[in-house]
Amino acid sequence: MNFLSELRGRLRNALTDLVPADVIADVGPYAEMLKPTQDPKFGDFQANCAMSLGKALKRPPRDVATDIAARLKVDDLCDPPEIAGPGFINLKLRTERLVTEAAALISDDRLGVAPIAAPRTFIVDYSSPNVAKPMHVGHLRSTVIGQALDRVLRFLGHRVFSDNHVGDWGTQFGMIIYGYKHFRDDAAYQTAPVAELARLYRLVNQLSDYHEAVKTATALDAAARMAEAALLEAHRQAAANPKDKDAPKAVKKQEAAVAEAKAAIHSAKKKRETIDSDAALRALAEAHPQIAELARQETAKLHAGDAENLALWKTFIPQCLAALESMYDRFGVKFDLTLGESFYNPMLAGIVADLKAKDLAKKSDGATCVFVEGNAAPFIVQKADGAFTYATTDLATIRYRIETLKADAALYVVDARQGEHFQLLFATAKAMGYGQLECRHVSFGTILGDDRRPFKTRAGDTVGLESLLDEAIARARAIVDENDDGKKDGPELDAATRADVAEIVGIGGVIYADLHHNRDSDYIFSWDKMLAKTGDTATYIQYAYARVRGIFARNGIDADALRNTGGAILLNTSAERQMALQLLRFSEALNDVVVDYRPNLLTQYLYDTANSFATFYEQCPILKEPDPAVRTSRLLLCDLTARVLKTGLNLLGIRVAEKM
Ligand code: ARG
Repeated sequence: MNFLSELRGRLRNALTDLVPADVIADVGPYAEMLKPTQDPKFGDFQANCAMSLGKALKRPPRDVATDIAARLKVDDLCDPPEIAGPGFINLKLRTERLVTEAAALISDDRLGVAPIAAPRTFIVDYSSPNVAKPMHVGHLRSTVIGQALDRVLRFLGHRVFSDNHVGDWGTQFGMIIYGYKHFRDDAAYQTAPVAELARLYRLVNQLSDYHEAVKTATALDAAARMAEAALLEAHRQAAANPKDKDAPKAVKKQEAAVAEAKAAIHSAKKKRETIDSDAALRALAEAHPQIAELARQETAKLHAGDAENLALWKTFIPQCLAALESMYDRFGVKFDLTLGESFYNPMLAGIVADLKAKDLAKKSDGATCVFVEGNAAPFIVQKADGAFTYATTDLATIRYRIETLKADAALYVVDARQGEHFQLLFATAKAMGYGQLECRHVSFGTILGDDRRPFKTRAGDTVGLESLLDEAIARARAIVDENDDGKKDGPELDAATRADVAEIVGIGGVIYADLHHNRDSDYIFSWDKMLAKTGDTATYIQYAYARVRGIFARNGIDADALRNTGGAILLNTSAERQMALQLLRFSEALNDVVVDYRPNLLTQYLYDTANSFATFYEQCPILKEPDPAVRTSRLLLCDLTARVLKTGLNLLGIRVAEKM
């Protein structure tokens, strides 16, 4: 049972009974004010709605609280409610009730999480990298947050289509095709095709950037000189009008403009130097002065169905997808659908025609755009040269998700920087008549390095996901070795087991470190924090799991047999009561995750559970306990803890080890 939602339901009934509908039409939000308490001295749950209701009803809040308590039918669940302070209603669950509810968990595979009464069909659009480039650390967040939401929604009983909306049709293919035609290293392509395609992509990009930097050098210099002049002028104004409050702001603004102009010059200079300092690259650049334009033409030919380019694309795609697959295997990610951008290509003209027919799209500077009320930026659905866009594809995707997949909701697990795109997309889809699909941008912040700038390697390159996981496993291995070598009865794990555990701890650490942050925030990547044995880490929770399994293994106790003995749960100490209550909150935690699609509410729950276990384990002897009934009850609590931790971590995409 989900105590929180049950008690909120009961409170809502009491409030409906008490508050006249003409004063407050919907008491729901007041019922939601019932929350778990932080401190057990206030009971297990507390409702503070009497304070705001007191204002609305013009009555003293304490009287209102007393009236609510009198109408609150919770005898079967709680001790009599207590009114505290100005009108808090404190509720303490009856311990007998905890005992029966906890006992019911023992034989319940779902650990008290009832399947949702009204399942919906969700699309979880996640990971979705642009293919033909290796996955890098920027793809981590979407992959792990998306996977967690996917798994939790399914566990709750919803229908889910996980969909990897890969970018397999974008302008990068023009670059790759151009590179393949002109710069291919056949031997390298035979042995490692995806690495070779990635090299070609980088090379074409570098050469295009070089020409762009050369071409714009004078303009960049001029822009910087103008910014400097404007800064001088701003200083002069500020000196002449010392009382003008806006003058210092203008100076600041111009300083930023100068810094930006200088940064642009610096970055262009670096792009030129990379090529100029390398004779071979320099020769390539000179031989391919029109490379950017020619690569664009290759993309256009591909999109127009050119036989040669289409054939190349068809050989590249399966190789790229296979490379992604091996990455997903390491994360345990499986997609129901991988409908890339190319899948929607045949539907794009229809989308634009439909927008025109509905009078939603207008020509602007040759491009076809949708202007959405309240948004300055247009949503471009067809460029002046006829090319369709990311926007057009996403509109076609929405139509497909409604008409073919019969979805009720779509979650887009994508970087916060695409916020404007999704705002425009959802508004346009609604205007087109696709409002029945509930669309959510589940956005997330950036992973930062120690310097608080986007996480890069020392050389300044993006961090490849493959090498990140390798390093995580290597670091975890050192910790596993040290831990095992330090055991007082000597090492327990053979080399193969150590390798397994290192993989579970390393990858689990990376996933957890990402998920335990509020997804909206940026966070600083730290190996030390990630793999710490104590604190809010996967390792800490995995250790709690392994500790329970160790007790069972070392003492030859079979968990299945124990569950079938019919032993009772006894909650005679506060640590045992707290442990049981925490385990019974699993369903509450999972339901909280999907309110606003926040996996950190599950990491928090698991961390709290591991902490409750640490207290319980410290305060309650298990095998040394003389009373066999108490001993059995404690073993049952241990076993339930292990099951909740394992299931919960698994819903986050994290595995556990039996021994660590
Ligand atoms: N491929 C895109 C990128 O790498 C993300 C796609 C997200 N999903 C979507 N339906 N737009 O930025």
